[in-house]
Amino acid sequence: LAHAYWSKLVQQGDLVIDATCGNGKDALALARYALESPLGRLWALDLQAEAIASAQILLKDSLPPEQFARISFLQCNHSVFPENIKEGSVKLIAYNLGYLPGGNKTLTTTAASTLLSLGLAVKLACPGGAISVTCYPGHPEGLAEEAAILQWCRGLSPKLWSVCSHRWENRKKAPSLLLLQRCWRS
Ligand SMILES: C[S@@+](CC[C@H](N)C(=O)[O-])C[C@H]1O[C@@H](n2cnc3c(N)ncnc32)[C@H](O)[C@@H]1O
Repeated sequence: LAHAYWSKLVQQGDLVIDATCGNGKDALALARYALESPLGRLWALDLQAEAIASAQILLKDSLPPEQFARISFLQCNHSVFPENIKEGSVKLIAYNLGYLPGGNKTLTTTAASTLLSLGLAVKLACPGGAISVTCYPGHPEGLAEEAAILQWCRGLSPKLWSVCSHRWENRKKAPSLLLLQRCWRS
């Protein structure tokens, strides 16, 4: 569902951010939506060196070299975005929360750092741009994180942001998807 939304929103030539790039599967989808135009640019961030290395291998193997060259990989906490990403310039900031599949399950996103990051992401998004957050309420930390994010979302002005939450009603441990779109005239 997230990828279907991204594919409609993101245009070739857009600037996009994967704030939790993990093994790079989401980043590869974003690259395909944005990087065919030489103007397109992708930032792929992750806390773990292991994740960045794995994403780099996948994207290098999957994309033409000139597209791969327009991806900036950064090992960092997403509570701080690179300074050279300008406010109001990003079409999509994507979060796929939780821990690295196949990695250390204790190195998971937390409500505290995710909320800090979202507070910055709302400034980076361009008019008509969006923030996509996949939450994992099937484990206790993920449930608390989802609750904190939902509470924060409800405080966003409806004049500036349109917030939509999707959940699978007959699967208690399924991920949920939050889509936040910045209004065009904001
Ligand atoms: C579910 S995985 C992401 C999956 C990934 N998007 C993919 O397509 O493979 C979550 C990732 O978030 C990263 N992470 C956890 N806390 C973070 C933080 N504070 N800042 C940046 N990345 C973080 C983890 O290292 C992990 O790789």
